[in-house]
Amino acid sequence: MRREASRTALDTKFAKTVNSRFAILRTQILREMRKHGWRRLAITPLTAGAGGTSVAVQLALALSRQKLTEVILVDLDLAQPSIATTLGIPGCDPVSEVLNLNRPMADITAIVEEVPNLWVVAPGSAEDDAAELLQDDALATALHVWRGIRPNAIEIFDTAALLDGDAALATLPLVDAILLVADGRRSTNSDMTKAERLLKDLPPIMGVILNKSED
Ligand SMILES: Nc1ncnc2c1ncn2[C@@H]1O[C@H](COP(=O)(O)OP(=O)(O)OP(=O)(O)O)[C@@H](O)[C@H]1O
Ligand SMILES: [Mg+2]
Repeated sequence: MRREASRTALDTKFAKTVNSRFAILRTQILREMRKHGWRRLAITPLTAGAGGTSVAVQLALALSRQKLTEVILVDLDLAQPSIATTLGIPGCDPVSEVLNLNRPMADITAIVEEVPNLWVVAPGSAEDDAAELLQDDALATALHVWRGIRPNAIEIFDTAALLDGDAALATLPLVDAILLVADGRRSTNSDMTKAERLLKDLPPIMGVILNKSED
C-alpha cells in the first residue's frame, strides 16, 4: 500500500517534469514556426525507437493545452503506425483506402476527448507500400485540402526513423521543418553525419532533441 502511494507520487512528479519540459519546447517551436511562417513540422527519430512518436504526441498535447492553438497530429509512419496505441484511441482506416476511394482526410480524423483543439489521423494498421504511398501526389493533395479546412493549425507529422529505410525521406518533402529526435544513450556522431548528408536538400532542421538522456 505504502509502495503504491510512493509510486503514484513519483509518477505525478515525473508527469509534471515531462509537462514542463514540453511546455518549454512548445514555446520555442511556436516562436520559431511563427517567425518563418511555417505550419508543418516533422518529428523524425534518427534511429528506430529513439522516441519520435513519444515526442510527437507530447508536443501535440502541449501545443493543444493552449486553447487557441489548433493542432493536427498525423501518424505518417505508415509502415509501423503507433500514435493510436500511444494515445489510447481506436486506429482509423488506412490512408491508402482513403486515397483509393477519394475520401477526404477529415473522414479518418479523430478528436481526442477533452482536447477539442487537437485533431488526430492515426491509422490502426500498417501499409504494405509506405514509401510509395508517401510519395503519391494524391497524399500531398489530400493533406493540402485538410490544411485548407484548418488553415491556422500547426501540423505535427510523426515519421519513420531517418536512418531506417526510405520512408522518412519520402515524407520529409511534405513538411516545412524537421525536429530530429536522437536516442541520447545510443546515437553516435556517425549517425548525425549520415543524417546531415541525407537531409542536405530537404527542409531545415529546427533542432535535435536528445531523448532518453535525462536522469
Ligand atoms: N524519454 C524517454 N524515457 C524512457 N523511455 C522512453 C522515452 N521516450 C520514449 N521512450 C520509450 O521508448 C520506446 C520507443 O519510443 P517511441 O515509440 O516514441 O520511439 P520511435 O522513435 O517513435 O520508435 P519507432 O522507430 O518504432 O517509431 C517506447 O517504449 C517509449 O515508451
Ligand atoms: Mg514512432
